[in-house]
Amino acid sequence: MTKPLLTEIDHVAIAVRDLDAAIAWYEEVLGAEVVHRELVEPDGVEEALVAVAESYIQLLSPTREDSPVARFLARRGEGLHHVGYRVADCAEALDAVKRGGGAVVDDAPRPGSRGTTVAFVHPKSSFGTLIELVQEGRPAGAADEAARGAARGAADEAAEDEAGTGPH
Ligand code: CO
Repeated sequence: MTKPLLTEIDHVAIAVRDLDAAIAWYEEVLGAEVVHRELVEPDGVEEALVAVAESYIQLLSPTREDSPVARFLARRGEGLHHVGYRVADCAEALDAVKRGGGAVVDDAPRPGSRGTTVAFVHPKSSFGTLIELVQEGRPAGAADEAARGAARGAADEAAEDEAGTGPH
């Protein structure tokens, strides 16, 4: 029996074409609050985190036409993009996926938005849903922003495949 690695749902990510319109809908119709907004330039995405109890809805919209989220919108339209699970140790959870024969988008943990450390699991291993493993904070000696850019190159290649999905 494997010990439980997923501690909570961190976020459910939804790809949208118009970030401001999506934010307005959540705020005005559902009374939700945007607690974080971030431009993640290496991923070509702008995100807004809408708080739902201890989790978030992560609204994603592309900032350029060659980003993975732009390709996702072109192929599939708006909708569910990935699910982020909180883990205590991103590297440990990623290793568990690899040991289980799973395909990964990120070969090693990398900096995510909101100061987190993340790695994506390929949807072909996780029954059709792109999964993001999310660890709070950055481990000591974590890669800096320059290294993040290098890591993104490999992930973008993986995102080009038939799945039509990719990290944001
Ligand atoms: Co995410």
